[in-house]
Formats: sequence, structure tokens, C-alpha cells
Amino acid sequence: MKLENPWKQNPWFESVAVAQRRARKRLPAPVYGALVAGSERGQTIDDNEAAFRELGFAPHVAGQQAERSMATTVLDQEISLPVLISPTGVQAVHPGGEVAVARAAATRGTIMGLSNFASKSVEEVTATGAATFFQMYWTGDRDVVVQRMQRAHAAGAVGLIATLDWSFSMGRDWGSPEIPEKVDLKTMVRMAPKVVTKPRWLYEFGRSGQLPDLTAPNLAPQGADGKLGSAPTFFMAYYEWMTTPPPSWEDVAWMREQWAQISGTPFVLKGVCRVDDALRARDAGVSGLSVSNHGGNNLDGTPAAIRMVKPIADAVGHDLDVVMDGGIRRGSDVVKAVALGARAVMIGRAYLWGLAANGQAGVENVLDVLRGGIDSALMGLGVSSVDELTPDHVLVPAGFHRALGADATEVAGP
Ligand SMILES: Cc1cc2nc3c(=O)[nH]c(=O)nc-3n(C[C@H](O)[C@H](O)[C@H](O)COP(=O)(O)O)c2cc1C
Repeated sequence: MKLENPWKQNPWFESVAVAQRRARKRLPAPVYGALVAGSERGQTIDDNEAAFRELGFAPHVAGQQAERSMATTVLDQEISLPVLISPTGVQAVHPGGEVAVARAAATRGTIMGLSNFASKSVEEVTATGAATFFQMYWTGDRDVVVQRMQRAHAAGAVGLIATLDWSFSMGRDWGSPEIPEKVDLKTMVRMAPKVVTKPRWLYEFGRSGQLPDLTAPNLAPQGADGKLGSAPTFFMAYYEWMTTPPPSWEDVAWMREQWAQISGTPFVLKGVCRVDDALRARDAGVSGLSVSNHGGNNLDGTPAAIRMVKPIADAVGHDLDVVMDGGIRRGSDVVKAVALGARAVMIGRAYLWGLAANGQAGVENVLDVLRGGIDSALMGLGVSSVDELTPDHVLVPAGFHRALGADATEVAGP
């Protein structure tokens, strides 16, 4: 008879907070620090989560619905719960990387957002069968942008996310983690004190037979013969991005038009904070937008994403799909966001903690935790579907919403 160790840690976790604690324990400090991220004094990253705590519910005691559904349609995709995977560069978290995340998205019936800076190629990710939205920054010249779109479309991407909210505001009061240029043996030896105390993380990479890959394969240049060159390092890619002049609203309209011609699938503008920008995005013809402050990693002092959802949804929610991201850590957060007008939310750190804690199963675990929380909230509120949620289902304190740029009566130029 095989004796099971009764004290062995159950790999399943009951909340995103537990996944985060496991990620912190398992990952080398610089890798964990890169996931926490944030910028400047951390005001926005803190508010993203804190704002959800200001919102409440008024549950019923009886008369709840026995059958509850959280399936919905967003950006032309039917999804089994209103939670999408937001694109993140998940370098060095787990050898499965974005492929593991995409498999989890596919098994749980939702959309996978794949970052420009991802460690796995768009071809490997779409091969999982996940409905993949390819994310692009405004980086490189127009020919390069088109070439990257064509590659994503050829790989089978079913949507494009343009993330344009980046102001290179990087200094952090708590200090930034070191990111090596590339992870070779020399770097491993130098960083060894931070790594040797994390045996499980090392073990996972050792088992996969590879060192963490700090390159961006989706930004590989294409030669005249159509063949892809070698992937740039993370830093080369970042340099290209930093030195590209920022996009105008004409560039947004141009990007949308190019994607429409290449693919005809939805085009999402990620990083919208202001009502006037939401109106401009609508006029540029986008199919959807994400109300987002880049998880508190962009301009510090931007309000929590959840504070900006209702004013933007009220302005453009009838014309396009409004989603939001930032601070989602439990199912009830999802319900609050949907009730205030989002069609769905996107998650970033929550699934990164899950990936670090337990690979693909950890990401599935996070989606299951959110699913369970959404279901409980729907039950308490006495509704049978996420589509029935309205702002009246949430207790909102006075002064909660932030209608940024709402005074503009007409849309002026950039
Ligand atoms: C480590 C990290 C890397 C990220 N990389 C990208 C990226 O490459 N592209 C992008 O559009 N957003 C990126 N984001 C932002 C996320 O897509 C998302 O907006 C944010 O994480 C949502 O906040 P949350 O982490 O509180 O859920 C990143 C976020 C984190 C934490």
C-alpha cells in the first residue's frame, strides 16, 4: 500500500490571495517583483484593488434563482464567463508561459490575450485552440506594424488589442527588480543567491530543459524572403518601442483599418480612461475598448479602473463592447464591474499568480475561483444571468465614479 503524506500541500488554492502567496514563495525575488510592478508611489495600483472594497451588495434572504448562467458574448466570441485573459509579458514565471495560459483559457472557455512581449510565439499559442487576441503596442514603423498584424492573422488570431497607454513612467519608490539582458549560465551564477532558495521554480525550468527566455518572438523581424529572423531580446524590443513617436488618433484609425482589411475581426483599444477618449475611439471605429490604467503600471495618479467604468459605459456602451481591467481578484469584483456597465473584465496578475503557483492548472484554478465567486454573487443578488446585472445591484458610495474628460461636448483633435 502506498502511504500518502497527509501534510502535503494541496496544489489547489481557494482564492487569488492564496495563489499570490504561493507565487511569492516560489518565484525568485526579481521575477515576483516584475509581476507586482506598479509605478512611482503606487497610488494607482493600490486604488485599483481598494476601490472594489468601497463597493457593496444588498443580498436577498430567499427567492434566489436555482439556475444561474454566466455565459455571454463579447467581441464576437461566446465565452463561458465574463473574464478574459489580459495580455502580459509572462517572462520567466513558468516554462509553460503563455502556452499554459492559453490552454487554461481554452479549457475554461474564454479569450486569450497574447502580449507583444510574450515569451511564446503567436503560432504556438493559437495552436492550443484558444480564441487568441493578439496585442500590439505602437512600436516600429507602419510596414513593421502591418507585417506583425499579418503574421498574427495568419497564425489564427481572432482579434487585435492595441495597447497605447504607456508613458514610460517607470521609477518606483520601492525599487525595480533587476531584469537581466538574457538568462545564460553567467547570469544564473550571478543571481544565484536569489534563485537557489527557490528550488521548485528551478526544478520546473530544469524539468523543461530550458532557461527562462527573455526574448520577444512575436517581434522577430521578417526578411525580404518572408522568413522570420531571430527574436529580439526584451531590451531591444523595449528600445524600439521607446524610440517610436507616440501614436495620434489618425494612427489609431489607420491601425483599425489595417486590421479590418487583414482580418475583419474585432479591434480593441486598451487603456482608455477618459470619456472624451472613448468617444474618439468610437469615432475611429473600434469594436471594443478596455477601461484600464495598465494595472497601475502607467501614469501614477490615474484613478482605479473600476471608478472610470460607468461614465465610459454610459457614453459608448451602446455602440461598442466596453471591458475593463485592473484590480480584479475575486468573482464579486467581476460582478461589480459588469453591473456598472462592463461586458466583461480582463485579468492580469490574478492568472500570473496562478501560473506561478501551479502552471496551467493554476490558471484554471484562478478562473474556477472567479467562476465560483461570480455564481455566489449572482445567487445572493437573486439574478439568473450576468446579463441581468444593472448598476442598482451595487452599493456605490457618493463620489465613487470618475468621469474624466466628460465635459467635452464635442470631440476635439488630439
Ligand atoms: C507583469 C505585467 C506585464 C504586463 N504586460 C502587458 C503587456 O505586455 N501588454 C499589455 O497590453 N498589458 C500588459 N500588462 C497590463 C495587463 O494587461 C492588465 O492591464 C493589468 O495587469 C490589469 O490589472 P491586474 O493585474 O490588476 O488584473 C501587464 C501587466 C503586468 C502586471
